[in-house]
Amino acid sequence: MEEQTVVLIVGAGPAGLTTVACLTQLSIPYVIVEREDCSTSLWRNRAYDRLKLHLAKEFCELPHMSYPTDAPTYIPKDQFVKYLDNYIERFNIRPKYQTAIESCSYDKVRKCWFGMARDMRTSVVVRYMAKFLVVASGENSAANIPMIPGLHEFAGEAIHSSRYKSGTYSGKNVLVVGCGNSGMEIAYDLASHGANTSIVVRSPVHVMTKEIIRLGMTLVQHIPINIVDDLLVRMSDFVFGDLSRHGIVKPKLGPLLLKAKTSRSAVIDVGTVGLIKDGAIKVLGNISKIKGNTVEFEGGKENAFDAIVFATGYKSTANTWLKGANGLYCAGLAKRGLAGIAMDAKIIANDILSSYHSYT
Ligand SMILES: Cc1cc2nc3c(=O)[nH]c(=O)nc-3n(C[C@H](O)[C@H](O)[C@H](O)COP(=O)(O)OP(=O)(O)OC[C@H]3O[C@@H](n4cnc5c(N)ncnc54)[C@H](O)[C@@H]3O)c2cc1C
Ligand SMILES: *[C@@H]1O[C@H](CO)[C@@H](O)[C@H](O)[C@H]1NC(C)=O
Ligand SMILES: *[C@@H]1O[C@H](CO)[C@@H](O)[C@H](O)[C@H]1NC(C)=O
Repeated sequence: MEEQTVVLIVGAGPAGLTTVACLTQLSIPYVIVEREDCSTSLWRNRAYDRLKLHLAKEFCELPHMSYPTDAPTYIPKDQFVKYLDNYIERFNIRPKYQTAIESCSYDKVRKCWFGMARDMRTSVVVRYMAKFLVVASGENSAANIPMIPGLHEFAGEAIHSSRYKSGTYSGKNVLVVGCGNSGMEIAYDLASHGANTSIVVRSPVHVMTKEIIRLGMTLVQHIPINIVDDLLVRMSDFVFGDLSRHGIVKPKLGPLLLKAKTSRSAVIDVGTVGLIKDGAIKVLGNISKIKGNTVEFEGGKENAFDAIVFATGYKSTANTWLKGANGLYCAGLAKRGLAGIAMDAKIIANDILSSYHSYT
């Protein structure tokens, strides 16, 4: 089977949906495919219950549709999903669900992309022919779990943060690996649901409040980044005090500069720091190996755990199916979150519009 279209979009997350909305505004035909049976599966199925957008809503708005005026400053995940559902309805987006792209390559002779998509229900493969390809398959496509000697023989339960929902570990000894936003918030959730919680902090990290970050993101539009960073670090010191004696060390670069240069975000505290100071959450160093139920840390310390939650991030999988370059666009792969996605989508649609005219 073969289908022809102008633009083939891979992935119906925020980036794919936004790109489609922008293409629709410009009346450019497209097909959007999604491997799961719903849109925005990351937010619907692979996020913990208490998740809210980390950034204030003014930094997370997608093109052509505002959040409802009564929406809270920090949008809870269910409300974000509802916003995207409204987006789908408003722009009449009909993703082809359970359709996974298995390979995509550019045909230099015919000057077009061929995408092989498998219908997961019937196993039938459809070949899409398109002038343009938009890779919107996300930076969170596959779970990233570090290689730790003995992990596959761990006697407890080991899960990735994408499978963590809430609270089922009451009375258990649980270790969270990773101190990004997910790790810190999951540690808080575990501890407040009665788990004996420890967290592995492997590298330096800035801890901020969401208000400090919001202020920083606003100020940096007018004031040099190093001055804003300096202010943010002072404010954070004032709010949290010196966290180094609790095992949390600050990076040398300031929070906004670090984000711009390395895409490592500051952690926005949801109450975890208070629990660490109380001793309710214990901070541990790097893991060296695992034996049965026992986790051994660098320096020789060891503790037994019932479960380990790996909040160690994700990786993109587009490299496994993508080949070629002409007429190729990537939406949402520059580690700039929803603000980056909003920008990518508009630029892509406009760029396609200008070269589309030369094809028609
Ligand atoms: C816990 C968590 C919290 C976050 N909070 C924020 C926040 O507060 N603010 C912010 O700006 N960003 C946040 N982010 C970043 C987040 O990545 C983006 O907000 C957003 O979800 C990314 O959208 P996307 O469309 O690029 O990718 P995704 O949402 O991952 O969507 C990609 C889609 O492509 C599909 N797909 C992948 N491969 C294929 C294939 N081969 N064939 C067909 N379909 C495929 C996937 O199933 C998926 O539905 C957060 C991320 C996580 C994990
Ligand atoms: C809680 O976890 C810490 C760190 O792993 C451990 O030292 C302590 O013994 C645990 N407490 C209980 C009651 O199991
Ligand atoms: C943990 O290991 C990483 C590299 O794997 C290293 O960069 C870091 O300094 C280590 N952290 C501690 C606290 O030993």
